[in-house]
Amino acid sequence: MLIKSSDDGFIHPISSEITSRTLYEGRRDMLRLMAGGVAGAALASWAARDALAQAAPFQRPGKLAALPARKSGVAGAMTLEKVTDYKDASTYNNFYEFGTDKSDPARNAHTLKTTPWTVEVEGLVRKPAKYALEDLLKLSAQEERIYRLRCVEGWSMVIPWVGYSLSELIKRVEPLGNARYVEFVTQADPKTMPFVGSSVLEWPYVEGLRLDEAMHPLTLLSFGMYGEVLPNQSGAPVRLVVPWKYGFKSGKSLVKIRFVEKEPRTAWNKAAAQEYGFYSNVNPNVDHPRWSQATERRIGEDGLFAKKRKTLMFNGYEAQVGQLYAGMDLKKYF
Ligand code: MTE
Repeated sequence: MLIKSSDDGFIHPISSEITSRTLYEGRRDMLRLMAGGVAGAALASWAARDALAQAAPFQRPGKLAALPARKSGVAGAMTLEKVTDYKDASTYNNFYEFGTDKSDPARNAHTLKTTPWTVEVEGLVRKPAKYALEDLLKLSAQEERIYRLRCVEGWSMVIPWVGYSLSELIKRVEPLGNARYVEFVTQADPKTMPFVGSSVLEWPYVEGLRLDEAMHPLTLLSFGMYGEVLPNQSGAPVRLVVPWKYGFKSGKSLVKIRFVEKEPRTAWNKAAAQEYGFYSNVNPNVDHPRWSQATERRIGEDGLFAKKRKTLMFNGYEAQVGQLYAGMDLKKYF
């Protein structure tokens, strides 16, 4: 069931299983204190949780609208690994439209204008459509999915995303028989995105998936994280999250979803074809030409003696997505 909240204008699903960000943070703070021997009777109550969350505030860019969601039932969608702190997830980003340093997006993305926002679905479909963000949000029930995101650079995070399977949208527009790939075009507005126009990449930032990859239930059209709408630096107001591929396949601030017959040229592929292939599945057995992909550093666990983690095939989603690549030479199609 859906309800409309009058204060933020969003449609929210009613759910008894909402996990808000305050709750995540509170739960973690509580565990931390308990581990430190500070556990007392007061800690057992949820009121104490709120007090703890306030005692250890995290940085945030502003008060963002809540975007509650029911927990996802999609196979593999809810890793039990420790969730990355919101502060880390929202201040260590790649969003080259706002600069190339990891701290640039959090610093600069306040200029991104996210309202009004429309996403055009076009190309080889029976029912092309232009969705206002508000309509896109309502197209299917919002789900929470806790996914690992692994960057090609060798770091990873665990993030509670909010959104729904991209396949929900794809089914509605009815791809034609010759639609084999989906191209994702992101916002490129030099007035609000200071690095659009720089020569670091060709703009707009474009990504692509094969149609069956785009239809896989784990491929998420995401509007939020940690129970709130996306902060600008994380790709507001709508982005893709493809958990078994290197992070750059997950385009931020989407404006067009285009169905095509031929494999699209993507931003990183155009910039360095030898280094960034079309597939870019997380694969510890295929090194990047300049570094190994066998291990990764989990953001938030990077103390002096922190051990690197072993990177898992398809980022740990092999059981769910391995069959998409059956018989393919993954060294050739990297
Ligand atoms: N989308 C756009 N539009 N521009 C970008 O620079 N960077 C990509 C991807 N999506 C990028 C983008 C890369 S390299 C990564 S690793 C992920 O976003 C990172 O997402 P995060 O910074 O929110 O963790």
